[in-house]
Amino acid sequence: MQIGLFGFGVVGEGIYKVLQQTPSLSASIKKVCIKHPDKERNAPASLFTTSYEEILNDTEIDLIVELIDDAKEAFKIVSTALKNKISVVSANKKMIAEHLATLIQLQNENGVSFLYEAAVCGSIPIIRNLEEYYDNDLLQSVCGIVNGSTNYILTKIIDEGLSYKDALQKAQQLGFAESNPALDVEGLDPRNKLTILLAHAYGIISRPEELLHLGITRLHTTDTRFAEEKGYQLKLTAQAYKLSNGKVAAFVLPQFVKPESQLVTVKNEYNGVIIESKLADKQFLYGKGAGRFPTSSAVISDISALSYDYKYEYKKLNRKEKYTLTNNYYLKVFVSFNDWSEVNKWDFEQVSEFHSTEDRQYLLGLIHVEKLKSASWFLDPSVSVVLLPESITEKESIISQSLKKVSLQLAGVN
Ligand SMILES: NC(=O)c1ccc[n+]([C@@H]2O[C@H](COP(=O)([O-])OP(=O)(O)OC[C@H]3O[C@@H](n4cnc5c(N)ncnc54)[C@H](OP(=O)(O)O)[C@@H]3O)[C@@H](O)[C@H]2O)c1
Repeated sequence: MQIGLFGFGVVGEGIYKVLQQTPSLSASIKKVCIKHPDKERNAPASLFTTSYEEILNDTEIDLIVELIDDAKEAFKIVSTALKNKISVVSANKKMIAEHLATLIQLQNENGVSFLYEAAVCGSIPIIRNLEEYYDNDLLQSVCGIVNGSTNYILTKIIDEGLSYKDALQKAQQLGFAESNPALDVEGLDPRNKLTILLAHAYGIISRPEELLHLGITRLHTTDTRFAEEKGYQLKLTAQAYKLSNGKVAAFVLPQFVKPESQLVTVKNEYNGVIIESKLADKQFLYGKGAGRFPTSSAVISDISALSYDYKYEYKKLNRKEKYTLTNNYYLKVFVSFNDWSEVNKWDFEQVSEFHSTEDRQYLLGLIHVEKLKSASWFLDPSVSVVLLPESITEKESIISQSLKKVSLQLAGVN
């Protein structure tokens, strides 16, 4: 296999190195396209180009491996390659999540293969497992820590007492963070990954913007103190649940995790996903979710899979019974804030606990997801929202205003 490689950064250079040490794959890199020709490289200068065409028009190249950090340019490269009937391996979750429907169409129309195992959970083979092993009807939920850099940052803050700034800087130095760290810390990267997971778990093609999401930038010391007191861990989770009406709830939110959950063991740049199915109950996939070689291992696995013409068939997309997303469910949340002027207490169906100190207040409440999504305080940078453990509930009817009042009074909210 002759490979045209786009990108020679953390992952691209990793692939170059690994391929040199894996002769059994019979794959070699013919040319590498980079952006900055003046950068020093650990490879012969003759290997590099800045011209897309030099690779995309080379008829000897039979596979494009796209590993650049620019989603717009990546889409140009990948869509051109697929139209040219060349298979593609990519790790670019932003580009894939934003263009999934088009990319699937291009794969099918051109009879080629487009693989992207490295785009979700780095080294964990989550996509191929969901695609091939888990039958649609039996899959109850997929819930996990899918972003290595935020998990690394949270681990360093909570376990080692590092400041947010220092923890982020360390994650960047180690190559875990995206070039634009907002993608990680604002929860956009896990939202992109959840968009991809939804296609393979439930056959749902959604836009990333449709999914409820929040990152870790608003977490307050009150929240970590609450976690400590209750014996919880604080994790950024991506979750998809099949509800009893067959619709799917999907969101990315920080969550307090109970000590008995496998997710508690997921520290630093590791990722972990709990897959729940009707017959097998819970299964847990665990591994490194970021970094040069863990990510390279998934890319190499895709390159190897192409040698036997593997492609995602998106079987669940073509099923008769279609799943769709819903916001018609309730979440149990912890909300911390500075002042009641920031939060509307009537947005909650129930408030089970309320605490007030001089510098911060918090409540534990049940809220409808539509209400949460549209609440102005949900977007307020001084308000922090964290899911409580086992937070999803499905309720048929909205609680009456008088019952709401009673719950607020019982919790001590005036
Ligand atoms: N790092 C991880 O742990 C990880 C994990 C999973 C997935 N990914 C994904 O893998 C991809 C690569 O990530 P990375 O961490 O390797 O990024 P990176 O270290 O920032 O490297 C990016 C590379 O892309 C090249 N590039 C950028 N724009 C280009 C363009 N228009 N044309 C040609 N080359 C271009 C850069 O060229 P120059 O060298 O000339 O600047 C650089 O070599 C991203 O989509 C990322 O989301 C990364």
